[in-house]
Amino acid sequence: MVAITGVLAARAHRRLDATYGFYILGGRVIGCRSRLATKLIPCRLIILVNVKRVITMNSLSIRRVTVAGAGVLGAQIAFQAAVHGFSLFVYDINDGALEAGRRRLEGLKAAYDGNGIASPDQTAAALARTTLSTSLSDALADADLLIEAVPERLDIKQAFYTQLQAVAPVKTIFASNSSTMVPSQLAAYTGRPERFLHLHFAAPVWQHNVAEIMAHPNTNPAVFEALIAFSRQMGMMPIPLNKEQPGYVLNALLVPFLLAALQLLVDGVADYQTIDKTWMIAKDAKSGPFGSIDQIGITTAYNITRNMAEQNKGSGAARVAAYLKEHFVDTGKLGVDAGQGFYIYPNPAYLAPGFLT
Ligand SMILES: NC(=O)c1ccc[n+]([C@@H]2O[C@H](COP(=O)([O-])OP(=O)(O)OC[C@H]3O[C@@H](n4cnc5c(N)ncnc54)[C@H](O)[C@@H]3O)[C@@H](O)[C@H]2O)c1
Repeated sequence: MVAITGVLAARAHRRLDATYGFYILGGRVIGCRSRLATKLIPCRLIILVNVKRVITMNSLSIRRVTVAGAGVLGAQIAFQAAVHGFSLFVYDINDGALEAGRRRLEGLKAAYDGNGIASPDQTAAALARTTLSTSLSDALADADLLIEAVPERLDIKQAFYTQLQAVAPVKTIFASNSSTMVPSQLAAYTGRPERFLHLHFAAPVWQHNVAEIMAHPNTNPAVFEALIAFSRQMGMMPIPLNKEQPGYVLNALLVPFLLAALQLLVDGVADYQTIDKTWMIAKDAKSGPFGSIDQIGITTAYNITRNMAEQNKGSGAARVAAYLKEHFVDTGKLGVDAGQGFYIYPNPAYLAPGFLT
């Protein structure tokens, strides 16, 4: 038998969910084997049927990455990838948003330098290989992977993917960083469901370095594998999920916890410092729920509670969303990133000596 240079597992028939091995020699398919068969079988038919679905491992190597949305998480994802050697484009909708993104990236350099996460030379090189643009087509030129970090609103994300599919190169994989949606809610808008899945980060990305990877039933398995490899390459711990789950693992645990804390506050049971103090002492935690909400950013917390309120009218989430809007969103107290949320930064009271006494 001649040397086999590569094997590609591709989902060959969606309805039967059969997985075939394609044996490739010098870029040419020389045989096929179903998962259960013991010998190679002629595979012309399989290839003809599936030629559009076959993605070679070579074409999935990720080097150029585009991040859409230069907000709290978009900037962190971009900087973490750039520090690990990827070429980065960052896209946002207008000059003001892009300028805010540039300031976030520069702030991240200081955070990485100050905490010894990377050397000043590495972080300077990361900034140098990061290009910001308000042109989506420029930002996507030759992109292997697009990571979407636009606001947590279904209408905004659906409109974004509709716009994106018209300008993205055919090869580009799309990954959403949505906190609470599942890929099936967005796949139809991407124009390439087999190259679409979710890649979810936690803030701050360099410190809480998990990357949850969630496919929908029609995501190509090779794309799923490529994102696991990419996550490792950008310094994350990949967490591949077996099935779609709103909130992945992390937010399935975290969102109800944070919502419970907000409801205690809105219902007047205790003030936010008392709630944080309780959690920090009882669970030996470095911060409480309100410190976490500031870290996540009030905009995202508001969007999530607003979405929950829309799905479940009259629920406690509606009162929480109204509270966040009145006291934080409308007053610009948007969390750590803005210098003030529940606490004032960079030295929040919950880290001060004596807070827990
Ligand atoms: N903040 C967190 O801790 C966190 C953690 C994990 C995942 N996420 C998810 O990441 C996504 C972004 O969250 P964030 O906290 O960075 O929000 P953010 O509000 O800080 O930033 C959103 C950015 O998207 C930009 N934007 C708005 N419309 C856009 C469009 N049509 N195209 C491109 N950019 C657009 C905004 O100008 C802004 O810069 C959300 O889906 C959120 O659920 C957030």
